[in-house]
Amino acid sequence: MKTLYVMKKKVYSLLLVGAGCLVLPLSAQRIDTTHITLCPAESKAAVRDVRLTGQLTTRGNSDFRQLRDLCWQLARLDLSAARVEHLPDNALHSHHRLQQVVLPERLKSIGRQAFFACDSLQGVLRIPPMVREVQTAAFSGCARLTEISLPADSLQRIGDFAFSRLTSLRRVRVGAVRPPVCAPTAFEGIDLRRVRLEVPRGAERAYREAEGWKMFFSPAEPLPEVVTPVVIPRPALLTLTAGEPFRFDRKFSIEAAPELNNERTHCLRILEERSEARVQTGAKGARIRLLLQPGLENEAYRLSVSRDEICIRGGSAAGVFYGLMTLDQVMASTPVGRCASIPQMAVVDGPRLALRELMVDPARIFRPIEDLKAFVAEMARYKYNALHLHLVDDQAWRVEIKAYPRLVEQGAQRVGMDDMQMPISGYYTQQELRELVAYAARYHVQVIPEIELPGHEVAAIHCYPQLTCGGKHVPIRTTCGVSNELLCPGEPFVYEFLGKVFAELAAIFPSPYVHLGGDEAGMPPLAAWTECDKCRALKRRLGIERNVREDNWQLQKYLFDCVIDTLRTKHGKTPMFWYETDFREIQPGCITFAWRHGLTETAIRAARANGARIMLCPGEYCYFDYPMAAGDMPEVNWGMPVNPLQRTYSLDPAWGMGTDFEKTNLAGVAGTLWSECIPSAERLYYQAYPRALALAEVAWTPQAVRSWPDFARRLRHVQTDQMRRGICGSQAW
Ligand code: ACM
Ligand code: ZN
Repeated sequence: MKTLYVMKKKVYSLLLVGAGCLVLPLSAQRIDTTHITLCPAESKAAVRDVRLTGQLTTRGNSDFRQLRDLCWQLARLDLSAARVEHLPDNALHSHHRLQQVVLPERLKSIGRQAFFACDSLQGVLRIPPMVREVQTAAFSGCARLTEISLPADSLQRIGDFAFSRLTSLRRVRVGAVRPPVCAPTAFEGIDLRRVRLEVPRGAERAYREAEGWKMFFSPAEPLPEVVTPVVIPRPALLTLTAGEPFRFDRKFSIEAAPELNNERTHCLRILEERSEARVQTGAKGARIRLLLQPGLENEAYRLSVSRDEICIRGGSAAGVFYGLMTLDQVMASTPVGRCASIPQMAVVDGPRLALRELMVDPARIFRPIEDLKAFVAEMARYKYNALHLHLVDDQAWRVEIKAYPRLVEQGAQRVGMDDMQMPISGYYTQQELRELVAYAARYHVQVIPEIELPGHEVAAIHCYPQLTCGGKHVPIRTTCGVSNELLCPGEPFVYEFLGKVFAELAAIFPSPYVHLGGDEAGMPPLAAWTECDKCRALKRRLGIERNVREDNWQLQKYLFDCVIDTLRTKHGKTPMFWYETDFREIQPGCITFAWRHGLTETAIRAARANGARIMLCPGEYCYFDYPMAAGDMPEVNWGMPVNPLQRTYSLDPAWGMGTDFEKTNLAGVAGTLWSECIPSAERLYYQAYPRALALAEVAWTPQAVRSWPDFARRLRHVQTDQMRRGICGSQAW
């Protein structure tokens, strides 16, 4: 075995990150060895140039997982001599720095999404001579590739979206005389008038006629008609009716009340994306009408389609918006995601649950504000109405608080998340968050901020040590897991701090809810409060007699009650928090999240006994950061179980408790995306979808019309539509 590290003189560069700077070895080495798994962690973090020659591993913490997740600066990868026949699914998924790759000479297939969104890959991509198959979305979004060279005879199949959205592509050279089987979507999202297809002499006629290739020669075919609408979440009632369809290839008008201007704009966007409609103000004849209908429930809508009119009536602007989201999916129900017409129909629809939430965690790995906006636009398609932002944790503080500038100066940047030794930095300014809130409101999505207390607060404690017992100086955490450092309830500064933080948040986020965390601050962390003089003094004042760990829960309750009172009286907010079994008394009207595996029933009982409401996000159904199948991403974590799609779909949000519980206590459902193992925007979507589609149906659709086989059929179509937009969820179902 040959292991050769060509070490240049170690060059340390100053990398400016946010307001501070981190010292990183930036261009230290080239690695030429058999397996990347043999290399030391710091080499993997610094390497830009890798040549591997061994029989590379593909499962678990494999060579490919390490190339992708640990070699974060990797720019050139030479696998020409590596012994690999199948490049695994997601091999280099969304590696945004990879510029060049030489594929293994003996390669036979390239897995799903192997180079998905590797958008720095540039120049010519040469597929080696023995490759038989390029699977779904393998190179989708590699927007800087200019040329693809496909081998002569071995290639048998090019999968859906394999080379989609290659916007710089100018030449495709195919060596095969007989056109390989090619999915019609393989080159989707590319202006093929700008791409030259080169095929062997005499083979052009066959390519002209072959599925997947013919569009290189001929103009686009006319748009098809929708026959069977495909919608997720499934509407309560959708009835197709007889008669001529509504055609979009003619002039028509949109009529909308002034208070529905936002929905009118969405309507225009949908028509442009899904049809060749020519909207003309005042056009006579066909029309789309958007109206508010008093008496309909808040988010409910009715959609009717006749030959000359599409009419959407909503109980509110949100209801009209959801009617439009249904219309959008109806219009997308063709093989090309656009249509010439839709059939006559009547839809009666409205949500089952009031709060339909996804939680994103930019604390562990930051996501820029633009990523959040794009995420909101996507989730709104499926009628989610709340984005929950986990803004702080032990690993970072991500929101600008003007009263405490050190929080983002010192708490928003670090190097490393477990074995991923990369710089992770960034925070949201208040202005950015206001823009996000306004943007999300246009999609009828509210943004709910979360500030953790009393645990998961190491980043804040790092910046302001007086927040913790004994004023200890603690470093920002660079690994997952639970810290023993808590806020000190005996320290007056803690109340002043939280008061100012929540006041600034209240001025940014109009949502009626604020999330206070509250998770995982039990045993052993609460031991800190037993040893702290200030905590002991507070216990004496409160009449908590025993200075033992169990009684520290009463201190936690005291801290929560103080914050809850402030939120309610000063800011008119409804507090939310993660349910813990030892948190026995919940203030009536609060909302607790049932999240722990196997403890949903306990959490429901506690909420009911206390007159509180509950959000369901049991880990075994709703934690989308867990892998969806064995071997799926993330391949390496700290022991998360597999959480399959069908399990998510099977969730009954009423938990068998009946309609009384559903009406009185159940606030909604949430899907979580804890981000320790989610290092790119594309991987956020990969984890979220398609489980977020299943949960959308859990939250929206009446139990009586839900069916897994029917959902699975619709899902294929909706996932295809997502891929057209460059959103590629896990296919491992
Ligand atoms: C949690 O997953 N710690 C709420
Ligand atoms: Zn203390």
